[in-house]
Amino acid sequence: MTSALEMSANPPGDDSQLRQGGRQLLLALYTALRSLKLYPVENATVQKALTDLHTTTRSLLQTEIELEIRLAGDFIFVNSTRLRLELDNYASFSHVLATFRAFEIAALRVRSNVERREWQILLSLLLSLAGRGTAEERMRELQERLETGKVHNLELERGVLDGGSSEEARQASKQVYSQGVAVTKDVIAGVRLGRATGLKRVKRAVQMVVDQVLNNEISMVGLTTIRDYDEYTFTHSVNVCIFSVALGKKLGLSKLQLCDLGMAALLHDVGKARVPSEVLNKAGKLDEKEWKIIQAHPWYGALTLFSMRGYEEIPYRSILVAHEHHMKTDLTGYPKVVRPRTLGIFSRIVAVADGFDAATTRRVYQTVPIEPDQVLREMWENPNRGLDRVLVKALINLIGVYPVGTCVILDTFEVAVVSAPNPDGEQLKRPLVRIAVDADGGPVPPPGTQVSLSEKDESGAYRRSIVKVTNAGRYGITVGDYFV
Ligand SMILES: [Fe+2]
Ligand SMILES: [Fe+2]
Repeated sequence: MTSALEMSANPPGDDSQLRQGGRQLLLALYTALRSLKLYPVENATVQKALTDLHTTTRSLLQTEIELEIRLAGDFIFVNSTRLRLELDNYASFSHVLATFRAFEIAALRVRSNVERREWQILLSLLLSLAGRGTAEERMRELQERLETGKVHNLELERGVLDGGSSEEARQASKQVYSQGVAVTKDVIAGVRLGRATGLKRVKRAVQMVVDQVLNNEISMVGLTTIRDYDEYTFTHSVNVCIFSVALGKKLGLSKLQLCDLGMAALLHDVGKARVPSEVLNKAGKLDEKEWKIIQAHPWYGALTLFSMRGYEEIPYRSILVAHEHHMKTDLTGYPKVVRPRTLGIFSRIVAVADGFDAATTRRVYQTVPIEPDQVLREMWENPNRGLDRVLVKALINLIGVYPVGTCVILDTFEVAVVSAPNPDGEQLKRPLVRIAVDADGGPVPPPGTQVSLSEKDESGAYRRSIVKVTNAGRYGITVGDYFV
C-alpha cells in the first residue's frame, strides 16, 4: 500500500499549503454536515455547502494525487500533515472527530475522480445512520449502502480509535484478560489436585480472547504488559495466548484456526503444574536434577492434555505445541528428538510468543527485566534461540520496535509511554506515545497528551525522537495509567 506521504505531489516538508487546504476541507465538511442536518437536501444552503465541499476537494486534488483524512488519537491528519486545533476551527475539528468516532472511521480517502453526488450520499448516510446500533453495525451498514449507491471514490477505513468510545472496548479487554487468568488458574489447580478438567471453559475463554484480538488488537496486546510476578504462571499463559493469536492473525489464519492456536498457546505450559513449585520458583541456580524436572514439562504437558480429552475430541494441536514449544527449529532444545522433524507452525508461533513474554518479565531469578526492544533485537539476531525468523519479524511488526507500555526518554527531554505502534508499518521506530513528564521535568497526569513520533516540524525534521528506553519506576510513572 502506498502511504499518503508518497502520494503527495508536494516535496516533503512543504506542507503549509496542505495545512491551509486541510483546514478548509474540514470546515467545508463540517458546514455541509451541519446544513444537511438542519435542512432537507434540496434546500439552497445544503446545495451550496455541497458545492463548496466539492470545489475545495477538487482544488486540493490538483496538487495531491489522493486525499486522506486520518484520525490518530485526538489529531486529524490530511495526507500526513497534522492539522492544528485552533480556536477558530474548534467547532469543525471536534464535529468531524466525533462523527468519525461514532462510526469508528479511522480514515476517509478521497480519490481524484470524486463526484459531488458521492459526497451527498456519504454525508446523508453519516447523518441518517448516526445513533443506530453499535459502531460496528453502523459502519457495516454505511459501507453496504455506499456500495449500493456506487460511491467508489470515497473510501472508508475502519479502526477502533483511541479515546471516546474505545473506553468500553478497553474495559471489555480487561475483562477478557482476567477471565483468561481465572481459567488458567483453574486448569493448573485441577491438574495439581489430579482432578479432571473439561476443556469447554478453556475453549470459551480462548474464543473471547480471539474476538478481542480481532476487534481491538492494540488494547489487548497492551494488556500483556501487566506482569504480575506472583501470578506469573497464569499471566504468562494468557500473554502467550494473546501474542500467538495476534501473530496468527497477521499470518492470515482463519478464526477457527486462531481459536485452535489460542487454546494451544494458553495450555502450552500446562505441564508445569506437575513440576514441584520449589523447583519452578527457585531463585538460585538449578542443579542438574532440578533442571531435568523442568525440562520434562513439555512431556508432562502432552500427557496431561491427553487425559483431559473427556468426551470431547482429543486436542491434538495443543498436545503437539506442549510437546514441541522448547524444541527450537534446529532441534537443539528439549525434549531431545531421535529423528529429524519439522516443528508445526503452531509450535513455532507459540515458541516466539513464549520467548518474548518470558524474557520481558521479571521473575524470581531475574531481578532486572530486559527491555522489550533489546529482547526483540536479541530474538532477531541470536541464532541459538532457534526461533523462526519470519515469525520474529512478524512479532516486531506487530508490537513495533518499542512495544506498547515501554517508557522512553525523548530528545525534547520529555519522558513518554508508548501507547500504540505507528499506523504506518514502515515507521516502526516512531510509535505513538503519551507524554508523562514534560520537558521541565513536571509530571503530566494520565492519560497524558498523545503525540506521534513521526510528526515533523516546518523544516521537515522530526519533532521528537526516542533517545533511550528507561525504567518507568524511576520517574514514578504507572505505565498502565497511560494506555489502558
Ligand atoms: Fe514452556
Ligand atoms: Fe512458557
